[in-house]
Amino acid sequence: MAAATSETDFPLSPPDFGSDFAWGVASAAYQVEGAFDVEDKGPSIWDTFTLRRGATFHGHHGQVACDFYNRYREDLRLMQSMNLAHFRYSIAWSRVMPDGMGAVSIKGLDFYDRLLDACLEREITPWITLYHWDLPQVLQDKGGWKNRDIVGWFGDYAALCARRFGDRVKHWMVLNEPMVFTGAGYFLGVHAPGEKGLKNFLPAAHHAVLCQAAGGRVLKSECHQSLIGTTFSCSHISPYTSDEKDRIAATRADALLNRMFLEPALGMGYPTESLGLLKRMEPFIQANDMSEAKFEFDFIGLQNYTREVVTHSCFVPYLRAKIVKAPKRKVPITLMDWEVYPRGMYNMIKQFSAYRGVHKIIISENGAAFTDELQEGRVHDPRRMAYLQEYLKEVHRAIKEGAPVHGYFVWTFTDNFEWAEGYYPRFGLVYTDFPTQRRIVKSSGHWYAGFIGKRPEGS
Ligand code: GCO
Repeated sequence: MAAATSETDFPLSPPDFGSDFAWGVASAAYQVEGAFDVEDKGPSIWDTFTLRRGATFHGHHGQVACDFYNRYREDLRLMQSMNLAHFRYSIAWSRVMPDGMGAVSIKGLDFYDRLLDACLEREITPWITLYHWDLPQVLQDKGGWKNRDIVGWFGDYAALCARRFGDRVKHWMVLNEPMVFTGAGYFLGVHAPGEKGLKNFLPAAHHAVLCQAAGGRVLKSECHQSLIGTTFSCSHISPYTSDEKDRIAATRADALLNRMFLEPALGMGYPTESLGLLKRMEPFIQANDMSEAKFEFDFIGLQNYTREVVTHSCFVPYLRAKIVKAPKRKVPITLMDWEVYPRGMYNMIKQFSAYRGVHKIIISENGAAFTDELQEGRVHDPRRMAYLQEYLKEVHRAIKEGAPVHGYFVWTFTDNFEWAEGYYPRFGLVYTDFPTQRRIVKSSGHWYAGFIGKRPEGS
């Protein structure tokens, strides 16, 4: 990593990013809420997946997580004390519709009403994600994302949320990282629901593309005054060598990881010319699907952590490309073994903002996991602070060159349940002492709070 920047010599202040820039933190229901079976909440695919032997690190699950369901008021108070005025969180579908469709849970809806009102009382602007990976298990039992009926199920769920909360929510995100939940959940089998292979991945991916646009339309028609977005994971792709085979392999990986879900929304269809395997999507595509997949989002949520370095490989079927892992390349890494590569943030902002249909970008996630230790009541995490500063410099560089970036959300507020990795990686600005649920602001959190509160000199 670049030489650690100290707290005082970070040269930028919030106004450098623009006057209407949103500074915040992001989270997701299953990762923080806990209360997995209170009232009439139904199980989600993460409730069931985490019970499978060997599915997650040491069998960790989100049954309690950060107990945010019970502690949201304290967490919002802490957020406010840290100058955080924007909070991205998600709604758990199975809390508000325990059967995934049909009957609603009044108690579930009430919880999100209370949370929303508590945000507004503290002048914290909510940014709500409709789907952050916790599909109701009953829908998975019917095939989940592989079942085309999900377009209708999801539409009904989106309409419920829009009608209930739309009077107060002005920023919506339809899906969180469709590439990750379909890729890890339906191709690699390492996330819920733990299914594998192209035959599962391709229909799941196509239906996610349809839901992305359908959800956008529902939100737009119900909440005229709101800004509607959706989020994409993205990583700059570099070829391992300058060899032509590696360069073409990098193009394929870029189509899969960075283009496949965004371009259909922009009306460009799938990037089949760069990634032949997408031709196998055809059996799932019906007559008007590619026009239905189009939706003009008010903003695009760009989520970036690292880059990938890719080499040609005959042994990887279809993709014929393989990631050269960061530890092997002996580059600076985080606890997730992800390369620290701030320039990749700049590259992805440039790549996304080059699309004609992308009008506005929100960095809806960026952050890092390191081994944080509680020592004498404090958590000193200079590497996270340096990471955030280096990435922010790259965001700023892109803005100065005209990129339409209007917000930045750190992943995440409190250390939480990191999916298959359980509680091992800590991503928070705030340390969670899980046995006691005590929150301790890390030094990076103090820095971020001070930075957001910073005014330009002389004002
Ligand atoms: C994602 C999810 C988050 C993760 C975070 C760190 O981007 O994968 O939105 O839920 O926790 O990214 O891996």
